[in-house]
Amino acid sequence: MNSYVNPLRDPQDRRLPRIAGPCVLVIFGVTGDLSRKKLMPAVYDLANRGMLPPGFGLVGFARRDWADQDFAQVVHDAVKENARTPFREEVWEQLLEGIRFVPGTFDDDQSFERLRDTIRDLDTARGTGGNHAFYLSIPPSSFEQVMTQLRRHGMTERHEGNWNRVVIEKPFGHDLESARELDDVVSVLFQPHEVFRIDHYLGKETVQNMLALRFANQMFEPIWNNHYVSHVEITMAEDIGIGGRAGYFDGIGIARDVIQNHLLQLLALTAMEEPTSFEAGQLRAEKKKVLAAARVPDRYDLHTARGQYAAGWQGGRPVIGYLEEDGVSPGSTTETYAAMRVDIDNRRWAGVPFYLRSAKRMPRRVTEVALSFKRAPHLPFTATDTEELGTNALVMRIQPDEGVTLRFGAKVPGTQMEIREVSMDFGYGGSFTESSPEAYERLILDVLLGDPPLFPQQEEVELSWKILDPVIEYWASLKQQPEQYASGTWGPASGREMLARDGFSWRRP
Ligand code: BG6
Repeated sequence: MNSYVNPLRDPQDRRLPRIAGPCVLVIFGVTGDLSRKKLMPAVYDLANRGMLPPGFGLVGFARRDWADQDFAQVVHDAVKENARTPFREEVWEQLLEGIRFVPGTFDDDQSFERLRDTIRDLDTARGTGGNHAFYLSIPPSSFEQVMTQLRRHGMTERHEGNWNRVVIEKPFGHDLESARELDDVVSVLFQPHEVFRIDHYLGKETVQNMLALRFANQMFEPIWNNHYVSHVEITMAEDIGIGGRAGYFDGIGIARDVIQNHLLQLLALTAMEEPTSFEAGQLRAEKKKVLAAARVPDRYDLHTARGQYAAGWQGGRPVIGYLEEDGVSPGSTTETYAAMRVDIDNRRWAGVPFYLRSAKRMPRRVTEVALSFKRAPHLPFTATDTEELGTNALVMRIQPDEGVTLRFGAKVPGTQMEIREVSMDFGYGGSFTESSPEAYERLILDVLLGDPPLFPQQEEVELSWKILDPVIEYWASLKQQPEQYASGTWGPASGREMLARDGFSWRRP
């Protein structure tokens, strides 16, 4: 049953089911983790929710000696293991009819000829109308080769009424320059409106709820500014280490991995002005304005912090440090903890620091945006009455335990006036019976529908690199090991000092 309502759509069409038209989705890098854990299950879940058309084809391309049935089995296992909706034989059978596999390598012309023929056969067999989405779940270093092959073998030709789209995953480059180079590669073949950049945080239900919270309500907006807010904390903490991802992560670090994209997008949604509508152009325009006004203050030594996890304890078991992880280069200076203060130079936010932090091997997994408010200008109580008052705060919990919490002071029952901090809670689980779609479900559907608001544009990517690049250059110039922090703790002392200097401390999520 489709009980999912897209909060970004015009209320007039909210009851219309969002069903993709006939098309083929081609996934490059189909043997990777992302594909198994997220993409293939998301495709099945969409089919199960009735959002894929009967004329849908899924093509896997990879360096494996597989026949269609072998790949179908891989999809089947991935679905059984990771899909969110129950397995239904009839849905699977329907999907199965459109599943194909093309074995090959990116440098081999014959592989791409086979891919072209496979897609053409599917176009005919499934009536896909020549609509194709190419999902590049591969390292950016291979983009150019794949693009060239797609063009050389005539797979991106536009006919009357058909569409071709390309989907690329973050990281979009590793700095401003490489992001531009990458975009040049992609734009040779695809127009800006045909490029879908995935930042999966934007597909998360709770991230979209930030728009609902801010712009559907009257009571938050008047206090959403520097008259009332003292500072904002955006935290993305993970309890896991880098696992088997050293090849990707080492030399890249957490700031490029998630601050450049997820956290700066969260900042943009928190700080931007109200868009005229939620149409992609309007939404992006507001995000861009705020990113253009954002900067890390010049004293990177005082306003940024980085760390690297050392051995420690996680979930009651000992874990190794970053430098001991498989594949990490000896003496690596890659940071697994990054924190920075971002100031936004505009009327609404001048004087309100935004603190961003992200890290691996924290005590628990949590992502949240917390607005802390200034003290009331006058407290008509004795100092003892308000000892436990705390700071008023509005916390948007992105995950887990999705919801919103308001922290404020209330009187402790009794004959004395004693005020203590309490919480008022909205939890998704308690308020809605509908389950949230996985971010990738939403984003893949939007790609197939050609619906762009949830995909960052190249300009946003570049503005984000402009904020981050100087910090990363500064860290590199130190030629020092990042400060070590024990796994299972909230990070290095420098992270705490960064806030303490401004008279704050990190909220304990
Ligand atoms: C990815 C990062 O973008 O997000 C990973 O590359 C990180 O390092 C992951 O683990 C976290 O995603 P989520 O949805 O579990 O918060």
